[in-house]
Order: sequence, then C-alpha cells, then structure tokens
Amino acid sequence: MAFVKKEIADLQINPFTMISKKWFLLSAGTLEDYNTMTCSWGAVGEIWNAPSVTAYVRTNRYTHEYLEKNQLFTISVFPEEYRKALAFCGSHSGRDCDKAKETGLTPVGLENSISFAQAEFIFVCEKVYRQPMQADGFLDPENLGKFYVKDPMHDLYIGRILAVYENER
Ligand SMILES: Cc1cc2nc3c(=O)[nH]c(=O)nc-3n(C[C@H](O)[C@H](O)[C@H](O)COP(=O)(O)O)c2cc1C
Repeated sequence: MAFVKKEIADLQINPFTMISKKWFLLSAGTLEDYNTMTCSWGAVGEIWNAPSVTAYVRTNRYTHEYLEKNQLFTISVFPEEYRKALAFCGSHSGRDCDKAKETGLTPVGLENSISFAQAEFIFVCEKVYRQPMQADGFLDPENLGKFYVKDPMHDLYIGRILAVYENER
C-alpha cells in the first residue's frame, strides 16, 4: 500500500462511472471509532470556489450518525475484486456487525479520518454543508413516489475536497 497524493487537475477519472458503476465507500470517524457504507449516488464538481463532493445519505443509516459527529469524511473507490466487500457494506449495518472483519478490508487512518488499505482512490473531504431533502422540493413527483415511500429522505452532504490519494501498489 502506498497512498500518493494527487493533484485534482491530473485526475483521469470519469465521475459518472466511478460513482454509479464502481460505487464507493463513504466513511467517517477515526481508526478507533468509525463507520462505512456503500454508495452509488453522489456528485463530484465545484462549488464555492472549491472542488467538492456531494453524498446522499438516508437519515436511518448508521453512517449518518458518524457524518454528523465528524468534520471529515472519505470517499474510497475500489478495484473490481472488492465488489463483494462493497455489496456487503451496502447491505449490512455497522450497528449489527464489524464490516471490516466480515469483508477483510483493512481500515487505515488518513488525515484525521479513515479509509481502507485496499482502496485505489480516496477523496478526503471536509463537511461544509448539510441539507435534508424535502418533499416539496421534488419538481418531478415520480422520484418522490419511487424512492421515498417506505425509506426516509436523504440528507445531502457537500464536502470540500482536502486531498486526493491514489494507491500505487
Ligand atoms: C450499490 C449500493 C449503493 C448504495 N447507495 C446508497 C446511497 O447512495 N445512499 C444511501 O443512503 N444508501 C445507499 N446504499 C445503502 C447503504 O449502503 C446500506 O443501507 C448500508 O447497509 C448502510 O450501512 P450503515 O447502517 O452501517 O450506515 C447503497 C447500497 C448499495 C448496495
């Protein structure tokens, strides 16, 4: 494992496929006390003159608690061989199990936050904005009916990207 800091301008990623097809782990906390979950919705771009990431987290996720009590979070992208591990982290709650133990992922502390030794790309982000989604904000009512009938709304978290690391193995 050798995490090497990259310049955002040098990144070659496609954010659309990175988020929706590869998925990512959204993690917050410290090595001693953290939680992580799989996400396949999100956004990467620019706001308030800063490269930023937006994550959408339903309020019932255990990870939501960790996002609330920590100033930093990370977005970790993995090679295809960890698909099963990500599927596990997206279908089990950290309230009920130790996801690292169950998947074999190795937690590592990074810039006062947390990621995993097997990640290929990591965005370290600082929370700058949180916004609960509201029913009256849906201009297309189809999405409200489709995604929020039995599940709670998402909070959106915008994080300013503090650093990007690539794992040069
Ligand atoms: C492929 C995939 C993508 C997911 N994307 C999201 C997402 O973007 N936002 C969200 O709130 N939950 C998403 N989930 C669900 C959470 O990962 C899942 O509920 C997880 O068990 C929450 O864990 P926690 O309770 O430990 O936080 C996704 C699950 C999978 C399998």
